[in-house]
Amino acid sequence: MDILQHQSLFTYNTFGINASSEHLAIAESVDDLKEGLLFSRNKPLLVLGGGSNILLLNNYPGLTLQVNLTGIEKLGEDNDHYYIKAWAGENWHQFVLFCLDNNLGGVENLSLIPGNVGASPMQNIGAYGVELKDVFYELEAIHRQDLSLHTFSKQECEFEYRSSIFKTKAKDEYIILNVTFKLPKNHVLNTSYGAIEEELERLGVGSADIRDISNAVIAIRASKLPDPAKIGNAGSFFKNPVVGIDTFEKIKEQYPDISAHKNPDGSVKVAAGWLIEKAGWKGKKLGNYGVHTHQALVLVNYGGAKGQDIYDLSEEILQDIKTKFGIELEREVNIM
Ligand code: EPU
Repeated sequence: MDILQHQSLFTYNTFGINASSEHLAIAESVDDLKEGLLFSRNKPLLVLGGGSNILLLNNYPGLTLQVNLTGIEKLGEDNDHYYIKAWAGENWHQFVLFCLDNNLGGVENLSLIPGNVGASPMQNIGAYGVELKDVFYELEAIHRQDLSLHTFSKQECEFEYRSSIFKTKAKDEYIILNVTFKLPKNHVLNTSYGAIEEELERLGVGSADIRDISNAVIAIRASKLPDPAKIGNAGSFFKNPVVGIDTFEKIKEQYPDISAHKNPDGSVKVAAGWLIEKAGWKGKKLGNYGVHTHQALVLVNYGGAKGQDIYDLSEEILQDIKTKFGIELEREVNIM
């Protein structure tokens, strides 16, 4: 594996930040990953998948290692499920298309999410009523220090809303190699998210199949979320905050139109996009960066912005939401 010196990371992050890395290597095998891990023993290590959930504040003073292990295999089936293994470097949407082509249901609501398969369990990606954990079976990972291989079951991954053990207790300890998905044979379509029903109607679809759902999701995403190939961004910049019912009721008195939904445990998940829009930030442009015009939860780089500019904007928004609503937002994007 070639280890390059002083490389721009511009094409390696969907925010389109032009930071550089002291070293850069692309790992195409487990042996390459081991070589990279040994090389970075006394240096900082930045492991990248599709670079779709990261904001680079500075040039990186160590090794950036892109995980590019590819391949999708049908492992087998039991009475109720198919088991499909995808390697970490596979593009997520290409994996969804593989499932659609093979008539495998379960991931169609997760169509068009940027990034790679290896990053999908890290933050338990989710959209339109489905989360990765709903179709997850197990994953294999390599330990960064002792290079040992480990298998993590669903339970061991400790999935939460946009989180897993790889963002908490085991942060920076492992590199995910591959993920095995468990896809139901008797798949029931999930159209619970209102926007999907509306889009199917608009598309004139009567009895929908997985490809119709995928097409509906693609249409909804394309109408709200900027295409990273055209406008730099990393999807939702903040998580949707979860608040107690009392806090929620208080805000609702003042803002009866607040967008939120109740969790089974009685807490309330508030739409951060609504809060940010209500506070007047939606579509705000500060030179070459700003808040997306169609989705206030997404910060954008129109070209040439510095990571620090976008970070400072996120801080201003965070403080403003705290002042106006008494709610503390949490960033979803990894800040490096
Ligand atoms: N809303 C506004 N103004 C806005 C944006 C949203 O009022 O500018 C309101 C909408 O009216 C709606 C509610 O907020 O009632 C929810 O909006 P949306 O359906 O767009 O979803 P979201 O909660 O903003 C989450 C995920 C997205 C995912 C969508 C669809 C998080 C942090 N984000 O966004 O995931 O695509 O749901 O399921 O949970 C990502 O993680 O990068 C991402 C894009």
